[in-house]
Amino acid sequence: MTSQTFLVFGATGQTGQHFTSLALREGHTVRALARNPSKFGYEHPALEVHTGTVTDIPDPDLDELVRGVDYVVSMLGDVEAQKTRKVNTEFVRRLVPAMRRQGVKRFLYQAGGLSKAPGQPLPPALWAVRKTLARSYNGQHEDNEAVMQYLTDEASDIEWMVHRAGIGSNGPSKGVLQRSSRAISIATFIDCAAYTYRTVMDPSAVHTCDPSAYRKP
Ligand SMILES: NC(=O)c1ccc[n+]([C@@H]2O[C@H](COP(=O)([O-])OP(=O)(O)OC[C@H]3O[C@@H](n4cnc5c(N)ncnc54)[C@H](OP(=O)(O)O)[C@@H]3O)[C@@H](O)[C@H]2O)c1
Repeated sequence: MTSQTFLVFGATGQTGQHFTSLALREGHTVRALARNPSKFGYEHPALEVHTGTVTDIPDPDLDELVRGVDYVVSMLGDVEAQKTRKVNTEFVRRLVPAMRRQGVKRFLYQAGGLSKAPGQPLPPALWAVRKTLARSYNGQHEDNEAVMQYLTDEASDIEWMVHRAGIGSNGPSKGVLQRSSRAISIATFIDCAAYTYRTVMDPSAVHTCDPSAYRKP
């Protein structure tokens, strides 16, 4: 495959670190905006790190980041900040116009399996988990849901896709995730990153908000 350029938000996070090393290993360029670049712990000739935060990057700098990339991937999350503010939605509302200005079309946003897709109720079992075990993540889910609503209502010209990931641990790979409108697997970060890498290049995933499930052996 020819070398592509990925613009990654959240590249220092649990999914983002795996995604970045996979894309670099596959011979691509990764451009990342990071609050703390030292979290990468390595340098790579195809890793272009810009220091900054999504909450205060000025539009001209955002345009510079987006310019010339093939794919934009967001694996952003800040559970504390998202309790009181829809940080990701505010950012995606600025990112999409920057993509339009720069003629960049493809965008994958990683949300969670406990976040509801527009017009699709969560199954009762997942609601129960969200209201109990996962209640401290409610702000993040509401933010993710607002991102999905915005993309659905106001960004049909962008080739966006949302992965509603069901991540359970940072363990080794448990298999290959595939897009699934019905089932959701409790996956590992490394498998989610590999799924994201494949899915952002998959035109059949455009305008979907599906979860993922392990392919049956
Ligand atoms: N973790 C889970 O179990 C889980 C399960 C299902 C779905 N998800 C979803 O997957 C997404 C990513 O989760 P994750 O666990 O991989 O993420 P994570 O480990 O919490 O990392 C989040 C990333 O976002 C970055 N970030 C946060 N606020 C930022 C800001 N203002 N400016 C720039 N970068 C910022 C963080 O940077 P720093 O390194 O500087 O903090 C980090 O790189 C979230 O939307 C979450 O809802 C997560």
